Amino acid sequence: MKFSILTLFPEQVSNFLNQSIIGRAINKGIIDVNLVNIRDFALNEYGKVDDTLYGGGTGMLMQCDPVYDSFQSIVGDKKPYTVYVSPKGNVLNQKKVVELSKKEHLCIICGHYEGIDSRVIDEIVDEEISIGDYVLTGGEIASVVIVDSVSRMIEGVLPNSDAYTNESHMAGTLEAPQYTKPRVWHGKQVPEILVNGNQAAIDEYNRIASLRETMEKRPDLLEKLEISSEDWQKILANKIQN
Ligand code: ADE
Repeated sequence: MKFSILTLFPEQVSNFLNQSIIGRAINKGIIDVNLVNIRDFALNEYGKVDDTLYGGGTGMLMQCDPVYDSFQSIVGDKKPYTVYVSPKGNVLNQKKVVELSKKEHLCIICGHYEGIDSRVIDEIVDEEISIGDYVLTGGEIASVVIVDSVSRMIEGVLPNSDAYTNESHMAGTLEAPQYTKPRVWHGKQVPEILVNGNQAAIDEYNRIASLRETMEKRPDLLEKLEISSEDWQKILANKIQN
């Protein structure tokens, strides 16, 4: 999968993406990240890319042409699916991450300062995405969040697909609590069934523990699921036991 990121601060993005799991995926050629500096398409020799707002207001707005020209530089035969990261967008969730991971070429446009002239957004953007209901100084962190979360859904980026199929949010629930050695730490025991149970019993334990974790930490997610009365009994019994 290919990502093209249009930004005024390519180093902010590359500093993060060139490391660890995503850095390795880039080195192996599983994903390709093309960073385009919007300032290379500035309107004059001083690197002008922004101007004051019509109608007044503080700050500067990125102008249409540098954004449009940088976008044109990455459009080949086929227009990439194009996302503008902004606090006005649909809030990113795992369902959207999976959907984006099926795109061949994803272009992410990062705004800075007060954002980007709306006319160029209307012309080239397929979807506006926010990473949460708060405001960042620019879209670069949001672009990294998208590349990271989407890349881990691509085959070969993580060591095996179990790593993401059983994790939080994939089935609309949170992952069950997990434990490693030592078996007893500060007097707290690892649940007996995870140590001595058979795989079917462990899977069932984890299924209920995942529902219970969701009930305790994100009850809003449970409202979207249909939980049988039998499962409710197990979730609540489990809670009382622990
Ligand atoms: N740019 C500024 N704030 C943002 C947010 N919350 N999500 C995505 N991009 C942003």
